Amino acid sequence: MKNSRITILVGAVAFAVTTTAFASPASVALSQAVQKGAHIFNTDSFGSHERNARGQHTTCSTCHIDGGRVMGRLPNGKRIPSLVNAAAIFPRYNPKMHKVITLETQIRGCVMNGLLGHPPAYGSQTMADLVSYLGSLAHGQRVMIGGKPR
Ligand code: HEC
Repeated sequence: MKNSRITILVGAVAFAVTTTAFASPASVALSQAVQKGAHIFNTDSFGSHERNARGQHTTCSTCHIDGGRVMGRLPNGKRIPSLVNAAAIFPRYNPKMHKVITLETQIRGCVMNGLLGHPPAYGSQTMADLVSYLGSLAHGQRVMIGGKPR
């Protein structure tokens, strides 16, 4: 009885050590993409020369405050939704474009019209990193294409 408990304990410790030491390449790559996406979101101005009132370069986080986790604000003070469920509610009908758009198209639109920068190409690593970051924000949110931003 005592022996079997020890065996279970040793087994559990060995399992914990191997899973931490050898995290799968897939999970490492994904968490790196999320981290790179967060970095891009907070620092990249996509070649734009726009600056905010404090003279800082414009980035996604100029409008989407706290990494997009809370309600954002445009430079003129107008409120915009948080990005906490964005990755769960696209594709969506865009009334201005009169068509259904994907998350990638929304991101490119924000870079072109919000940042006045050069948008990342569809399928590029930068796009994959940004989409991974937005996906990480939306973890556990209800998936509902065409749904309302929170
Ligand atoms: C100048 C301000 C501004 C900047 C900079 C900006 N955005 Fe936006 N973003 C908006 C506004 C306003 C909306 C909501 C209206 C709309 O759909 O255009 C929005 C909406 C979004 C949405 C859709 C949210 C939803 O659930 O409806 C996503 C995703 C998004 N932005 C991502 C980004 C990313 C990523 C960047 C940086 C590459 C970025 N934005 C930069 C102003 C901005």
